[in-house]
Amino acid sequence: MLVIAHRGASGHAPENTLASFRRAVEMGARAVEFDVHRTLDGELVVAHDDDLRRCGGDRRALRRLRWKGEADRIDVGSWFDPKFSGERLPRLADVFDAVPPSVEMHVELKHGSRVYPGIERAVVDFLRGEASGRRVIVSSFDHRALFSVRELDSNVRIGYLLGLTRAATAWREMSELSAESLNLSLRQASARLLRAARERGFKTLVYTVNTPMDRDRLARSGVDGIFSNYPELDLWR
Ligand code: G3P
Ligand code: MG
Repeated sequence: MLVIAHRGASGHAPENTLASFRRAVEMGARAVEFDVHRTLDGELVVAHDDDLRRCGGDRRALRRLRWKGEADRIDVGSWFDPKFSGERLPRLADVFDAVPPSVEMHVELKHGSRVYPGIERAVVDFLRGEASGRRVIVSSFDHRALFSVRELDSNVRIGYLLGLTRAATAWREMSELSAESLNLSLRQASARLLRAARERGFKTLVYTVNTPMDRDRLARSGVDGIFSNYPELDLWR
């Protein structure tokens, strides 16, 4: 079972920062996950929330901030520990630069074009250009965004984040999308749903799994991967 470092090694370093991705790599992570937004001037940036209130003490929405001189100034490390005060909001390209190509990249689009018009094309262009040859899976709770990504690129690997969608809808959309995996929360990961996904030929990836007990239970249920803040849960490192 694959352990995917959720927002990097976010149990050890501030989430979605270069420090957390470097830490994950040092710890032997075979895959990392991170969340993507876009600034006012079109930079693709890596953060979980729509703003940096929680991780940077700044209430302004990322979509209203310019990258240069605004978003790039915000300290996104101190909230976790003062020793990370040098951490700045990374761009998507910075994260790809910090992580070696052997590591699988789970790129989660927090919003599609409804919030960030044209973001799907920007991401696909980046993946085909600067990031070509890298091992990438694009995922989102915004299934419209996944359809746009699929329309733009018939080869990209897609992870379908279930969210509040009904299983019947998910199966239909996942096959239309040729999705590779159903990504679901620990709470949603019933034996029945996992079996149903497997029977339809989809992998299952479960978030966020931070204890050996949950890891072992999911491994026994045949789950293909877990997103964890603790890459050390991967026994195969
Ligand atoms: O992609 C798995 C997981 O990251 C989804 O939830 O809120 O942590 O982005 P969240
Ligand atoms: Mg995520």
